[in-house]
Amino acid sequence: MKFDDFWYVVALSTQLKTNTVLQRQVLNEWLVVFRGDDGKPVVLQDRCIHRNSRLSQGRVCQGKIQCPYHGWVYDRTGKVVAVPSEGENFKTNAARRSRKYDTKEQDGYIYVRLSPQPIEELAPFTMPFYHQSGWETVRVINRFRNNVTNCAENFIDIPHTASVHPGVFRKARQQKLEMTVERRNGSVFAEYHNETNNLGWFARFLNHTSQEIKHTDSFHMPNVTSVEYNMGKYRRLFITSQSIPETDDSTLVYTDITYNYGFWNKLARPFVRWTAQYIIHQDIVALGIQWEVIEKYGAHFTNTPADTIHVFVESIRDRISRGEDPRKLPDKKVCLEFWV
Ligand code: FES
Ligand SMILES: [Fe+2]
Repeated sequence: MKFDDFWYVVALSTQLKTNTVLQRQVLNEWLVVFRGDDGKPVVLQDRCIHRNSRLSQGRVCQGKIQCPYHGWVYDRTGKVVAVPSEGENFKTNAARRSRKYDTKEQDGYIYVRLSPQPIEELAPFTMPFYHQSGWETVRVINRFRNNVTNCAENFIDIPHTASVHPGVFRKARQQKLEMTVERRNGSVFAEYHNETNNLGWFARFLNHTSQEIKHTDSFHMPNVTSVEYNMGKYRRLFITSQSIPETDDSTLVYTDITYNYGFWNKLARPFVRWTAQYIIHQDIVALGIQWEVIEKYGAHFTNTPADTIHVFVESIRDRISRGEDPRKLPDKKVCLEFWV
């Protein structure tokens, strides 16, 4: 199993209109994304085989992309179907083709898979309650200067919230939380107990009765995190993030905030978007600083019990980077406590 066996988001479905060309990078590979003449997404290597111009600088017409340099035209299979300088002598030639990658469209996202022969057919993560009745989704995209591991860990890290997001998310109260963390089948599940009203600005709205919150965090190989808050009927919230590795130090994160606030669903949208962006910007700063230090001194961490999730996430990603299957790691479950 390798990182390029998995599906990665390259665009929102709505970003990729007919005749639109997008330039992307996934796992250091340059990609051009457009829709073919059948309307389905096409991802090719962003390189013209003629003399190496970038196809993403070209134009799409009727589902084919034309290189901006000498005008070679590629169809949705990556095959060269016109060479202007050859005029009437042009003949198709099976060897003249760009590298083409598999794509999928699901839950309003366009995915690419770089591996031509994955070890097994893995499915993209199913986004919880996307487009289901009673649920709203606000989707935001942000670039982090850090790697996927540190981004994913941040999104399910409670101890940083009181210091990086003071007030808006949580206040430091030295409240004791109990946590159960489990590593199973390439995923990590964390369940919290004792959480009540420490939810910052929106505590009154989100949990007006101050009942115990059902809060679970999870990580799913290789790059998805999901946070769920359940504060009763019409107060349910999922924050699901797909961290896309552009390069070793650049991660593009697609975040879905999917919630069911009943009557307040539509009215809440601008508040949800604004708050999500506000919090994510604080994390972009924190993770940028972390990356500066890692670049200078390397990634050496000192863990506490509250960092158990991180250790599990790293063990899973580490297996994949060694070409192994993290689902073969032994199941582990620990109960611990920490203060926030
Ligand atoms: S470099 Fe693309 S057509 Fe010449
Ligand atoms: Fe954060």
